[in-house]
Amino acid sequence: MPRKIVVTSALPYANGPIHIGHMVEYLQTDIWVRFQKMCGNKCLYFCSDDTHGTPIMISARAAGVTAEQLIERIHTEHQKDFKGFLVEFDNYYTTHSPENKHLSELIFNSLNKAGAIVKRTVEQSYCESCKMFLPDRYIRGACPRCKAEDQYGDSCEVCGGTYQPTDLIEPHCATCSNKPVRKESEHYFFKLSNYEQKLRDLISQGYIQQSVANKLEEWFKTGLRDWDISRDGPYFGFKIPGEENKFFYVWLDAPIGYMASAKNYCDKNGLDFDELWNGPENELYHFIGKDITYFHALFWPAMLMGAGFKTANKLFIHGFLTVNGEKMSKSRGTFIKASTYLKYLNPEYLRYYYASKLAGGVEDIDLSTEDFINKINSDLVGKLANLASRSVPMITKKFAGQLGRLDDQGRGLIEKLAAADAQIIENYESLNYAAAVRTIASLADEANRYVEQNQPWATVKTDLEKTQTTLTVIINAVKILTIYLKPILPDYAKKVQECLDVGEQNFADVKTMLEGHKINDYPRLVERIDEEKVKAMIEESKESQSPQPTVNLTEAIKPECTIDDFAKIDLRVAKVVKAEKVEGADKLLHLELDIGGITKNVFAGIAQAYQPEQLLGRLVVCVANLRPRKMKFGVSEGMILASGAGGKEIFMLSVDSGAVPGQTVH
Ligand code: MSP
Ligand code: ZN
Repeated sequence: MPRKIVVTSALPYANGPIHIGHMVEYLQTDIWVRFQKMCGNKCLYFCSDDTHGTPIMISARAAGVTAEQLIERIHTEHQKDFKGFLVEFDNYYTTHSPENKHLSELIFNSLNKAGAIVKRTVEQSYCESCKMFLPDRYIRGACPRCKAEDQYGDSCEVCGGTYQPTDLIEPHCATCSNKPVRKESEHYFFKLSNYEQKLRDLISQGYIQQSVANKLEEWFKTGLRDWDISRDGPYFGFKIPGEENKFFYVWLDAPIGYMASAKNYCDKNGLDFDELWNGPENELYHFIGKDITYFHALFWPAMLMGAGFKTANKLFIHGFLTVNGEKMSKSRGTFIKASTYLKYLNPEYLRYYYASKLAGGVEDIDLSTEDFINKINSDLVGKLANLASRSVPMITKKFAGQLGRLDDQGRGLIEKLAAADAQIIENYESLNYAAAVRTIASLADEANRYVEQNQPWATVKTDLEKTQTTLTVIINAVKILTIYLKPILPDYAKKVQECLDVGEQNFADVKTMLEGHKINDYPRLVERIDEEKVKAMIEESKESQSPQPTVNLTEAIKPECTIDDFAKIDLRVAKVVKAEKVEGADKLLHLELDIGGITKNVFAGIAQAYQPEQLLGRLVVCVANLRPRKMKFGVSEGMILASGAGGKEIFMLSVDSGAVPGQTVH
């Protein structure tokens, strides 16, 4: 009986591009899914963008678009990246969907009924000008330990210290720079500890790898704390039923997104979702990175238990990617976006390389660029593709593509290659792709030794029949090794299948021998890696990360204002009739502006960018109805428009010399 398996990968956040770190996970999962399908199992692979939360709301504001527009754009980009890497989802959905809203409410209500949800008042930082509660990451200030300026509210990037946002020296809102206040609000909490025993049982049944189970034991010992699952508006997410301005915290609806993606697939394909998700004979596996273990090993199964759903059979947790032994880094150019990689290199190189490194554990995996180039050129091109390039062209040229029969020696080799299937299947099943790749490479070595011994390029001049036999053996070896590699190299396998004219190959096909069969012309299977391309990819990754001309978060776009708010600002053409330095203030110039018969005194912070004499007689744009402000040096009655980074980099908006002072600016 074929197994029925549902597989998920963690849902990537919809506020940034996919990078090669993410790809560890999506490739690990995709290989496993393809493997299951090749074993004849019914396997479905679901994923989705993780679209809710404050960072996405703020990114959208900073980009001047709505959150919906942002997540739609990212959805298209993510799908393109995954397709480029040959990751084949059965459904790639979004958490901002009606299915997810429905399931989130359903689960929340069930947990509520089960008495697993309580309400409590909490005190949090609040920005009165942005009118929002500030998550730790949106409060900045100097580190209380090392005094480094401009650090996040939860930890310091300079000294590594962690603290509460209230400990920051001069804390301010990352969006508008105002000082946050403390404010109370009522929140919903999920009582995780209600499920402690059930969670312990789940873990003792092998829900996660042993090495992670120890970490969990620590968490149990520290005690399972109630989990805050609500956020106050403004927030991009789903409203909590019965609330006006409270939303589900993104991590509540994100894993429910797994179900929503499956549900959407079932509805589109006429399948029964309840049976697919909850049916006892269906297996369910989540692939995740180690950083999100707490959510998937504790919160998520507890939510499912509380709401009466089945939990996954197993979590498959992987480690993090390092590049050349270090964390991916923007300055070193190793923070490589999927799309940048695809511009320069074949996706199957990375699929092969990651496979050769992934052994099913939670250890980090390293992409060493030198090792990467070597492994592709010596193993994939030099050993595997080489077998085909040494046999197919000769058989098409000299024998019109006609295979002969296997002799005893050849049959011995082929049977040996085919007999490795059980081991390789077991390696794939247990996520030990590294072992599978090692076995495949050593079988390829053996086949290459056979080629060396039998020297078809020499015998072709003396003994055609023997040569045809030798080539037939090699082509059978190519066929078997390609089946073994197919979960990792789907495009490569497709080309080989077409060339050998054998149709879709599965694991069961390793035992069939190709004799007296006619094959097609030789396609180019895979090129050697050009080192220059790797260098260029890293160079481009450096550039794309250099200080960006876009607005950064610390000066992100302010909360929306209406056209009516905007219409209150009266902008007028003004002529500078007097300009002078201000004693004791090296940044300020004192300007006298003529706005059509009315004179305004303005103190402008432009002294480092302009000399007073440069300004005399110039036409500028002035906010004519700004409430006068008393400053240290006098009253300022307006403001002039300029842009730039500050200091010497300030550029006043200039107005066409035909304009008349006092004219309205539109
Ligand atoms: N949105 C959450 C997951 C919600 S699942 C209900 C999230 N998103 S993420 O975009 O940050 O990461 C998606 C997956 O990629 C996670 O499993 C994460 O561990 C993995 N990786 C992200 N960066 C990675 C590396 N540098 N290396 C390996 N895996 C990495 O977490
Ligand atoms: Zn603010």
